[in-house]
Amino acid sequence: MTVAAPEPKENMGQPAPRLDGRAKVTGEARYASDFMVANPAFAYLVTSSIARGRIAGIDQSEALAVPGVLSVMTHENAEVPGEFTFFGAGGESSTALKPMSSDRVWHDGDIVAMVLAESYEAAREAAYKLKVTYKAESPTALMHSPGSEMRPGAAVNPRHQDVKIGDAEKAMAQAEVAIDAEYSTPTQHHNAIELFTTTCVWNGNELTVYEPSQFVIGMKFGLARQLKIEPNQVRVISPYIGGAFGSKGGVTQRTSLVAIAAKRLNRPVKLVVTRDQGFTTATYRAETKHHIRLGATREGKLTAYTHEAWELTSRADDYMVAGTENSAAMYAIPNIATKVYVVKADRNTPGFMRSPPEVPYMYALETAMDEMAVKLRMDPVEFRRLNDTQVNPVTGAPYTSRSLMQCYDEAARAFGWAKRQTEPGAMRDGDWLIGWGCATATYPTQLNPAAVRIRLTDQGQIRVQVAAHEVGTGAYTVIGQQAAEWLGQPLDKVHVDLGDSDLPPGPVAGGSVTTASVCSAVIQGCAVIQNKLFQRSGPTAMQNLTGGQLAEAFSRAGLSVIEEYAEWVPEGSRPGALKGLHSGQVGITGGPLKDKTMFAFGAEFLEVRIHARTREIRVPRIVGAFAAGRIMNTRTARSQLMGGMIWGISSALHEATEVDERTARYVNDNLADYLVPVNADIAEVEVILVPETDTKVNPAGVKGLGELGNVGTAAAISNAVYHATGRRIRDLPIRLENLLQV
Ligand code: MOS
Repeated sequence: MTVAAPEPKENMGQPAPRLDGRAKVTGEARYASDFMVANPAFAYLVTSSIARGRIAGIDQSEALAVPGVLSVMTHENAEVPGEFTFFGAGGESSTALKPMSSDRVWHDGDIVAMVLAESYEAAREAAYKLKVTYKAESPTALMHSPGSEMRPGAAVNPRHQDVKIGDAEKAMAQAEVAIDAEYSTPTQHHNAIELFTTTCVWNGNELTVYEPSQFVIGMKFGLARQLKIEPNQVRVISPYIGGAFGSKGGVTQRTSLVAIAAKRLNRPVKLVVTRDQGFTTATYRAETKHHIRLGATREGKLTAYTHEAWELTSRADDYMVAGTENSAAMYAIPNIATKVYVVKADRNTPGFMRSPPEVPYMYALETAMDEMAVKLRMDPVEFRRLNDTQVNPVTGAPYTSRSLMQCYDEAARAFGWAKRQTEPGAMRDGDWLIGWGCATATYPTQLNPAAVRIRLTDQGQIRVQVAAHEVGTGAYTVIGQQAAEWLGQPLDKVHVDLGDSDLPPGPVAGGSVTTASVCSAVIQGCAVIQNKLFQRSGPTAMQNLTGGQLAEAFSRAGLSVIEEYAEWVPEGSRPGALKGLHSGQVGITGGPLKDKTMFAFGAEFLEVRIHARTREIRVPRIVGAFAAGRIMNTRTARSQLMGGMIWGISSALHEATEVDERTARYVNDNLADYLVPVNADIAEVEVILVPETDTKVNPAGVKGLGELGNVGTAAAISNAVYHATGRRIRDLPIRLENLLQV
């Protein structure tokens, strides 16, 4: 065991190396655009240089003169009446906007044309030579810009409900201690290293799509609807994904365009979207604003919490993340009132980005919690302990398990929190102002129906197949481990197939559902196999079955291979969830349910050092302790949580997509100017896995932790910056210019 492969504690699986590790480091792993197709044409997008208005004209003459150019698709010819065409948003689309459907430009970087050529270079050159002229209108860039439209979230999105328990206004008026503050978080883009790509190949009426996708089944059905063809005519292949983080979950605008082009040219078409075009043709984390008030007794018992929030969205879509349903479940507060608004502007439609609601909403709440602790002159850990709860105050439903304070205690011990001097600025070390801060991490335990096919031979070879996804998290490995454990075989006898819509339908790789959902389906499938082999009635993990025992059981049963198909539907799913699984719908349930409350928790402690003269901000160390039910693999779990905390640091100190308010365009749409942390920015990261057993969440006992680690980190940073300087910075990211007045 090493730091990277921590010794499993109670209820934790072995730190098995990734089944796909070798393929990845040797370059054998095929990412979507690596698949070889015969005689491809290459596509290149042309995106708008204005954010609002109309296309006045498109002069194709110079573009068409480039050697190797085949054709140019624009709004003038994208649809041919009576021919195969793009019918607009279908399935789980990231936007209702249909590109090239009219001369209207909806946002900066809207797709206005697609050039097709014999080579990528020719397509790119022709794209640069296409002359698009516009009738530009003045765009609305930001929430406060003229022309923005504000709408109550509950009115535009029936799935969101504002929270109201007790009488928050009255409790605030009577509170002995109160805080009232506003926070904001910026626009951020996922910037996965693998670009957005699509390759479409037609074989007669059958379409094969190679695209990095977090939801191949959703894309299959969504594309079929967009193109008005039968779902069984579409196959989507995505075995490896080079980073997604939510950006590759929805059905995109580009895929149908590439499919149409391939049909018209009668040859495969390959599109790789450039880095800057990815900023506007895919989704992003929208900027948010928050107004929070907390009321408490002098002893530190919280009595009231109000949270109003505003989220930016596009003109065409009412996308929102609305994190208050989860933030309101965090602490024992009797009076809560929340309200979320969407604010529409001339921007592309935002979308999921790792822990979509929790990152901005918990940033605001956990900073407010620290402000309240300071005002109460209480230790922030003890303040949270005093207000800890084992029931969701909103619904009254108990947590199936909640180890938040165990996480605080373990992380505090490892960090050395007891040595903290309370007063801001008290811990100076020479030229460096030292600040220590902490915050709560949380993520709802969410589940989606899943189907699997499992095959076991009398030689102990196992094959598990499911249209789930490897987004870099270790899905192949943990799914394989679950099957190996339940069928009593070593992991090297397991082969796992993922990322192909021809496999049994699996969940979207979103909402941290994959491990819990697929492992639960695997357990169900393994139980059927055990039943056939050993006439067992209930499922049991069969550790270390010998080859002889297995062969004997097979021969007794008169079989040499058993292949089983199993479908698992989580408790509390809405009616029709299974049908939804088979028609490409997301069927996520979990988190704050009516009768039970399911969340994973963590506590993060970190040190910032701020240079007294330059105000340079450094984070020399961070410690996070996390409890997330059964940990399938301590190595992949640690990597996920470590990556999450690094992203949390990045989110607090580095990342922001700058929007030019005059033009509603992104300024730093490249990896040189969009700051992400490098090795020099990240020093010590310690992950502590806190044992937790939860038999109520799902058969696998897994809570999921893909989106747990980056929640709360930004608040821990802002709390530490306050402790170092006495200055409360409420708007992210925190940069040295915010601290010049200290
Ligand atoms: Mo994640 S943002 O649910 O892909």
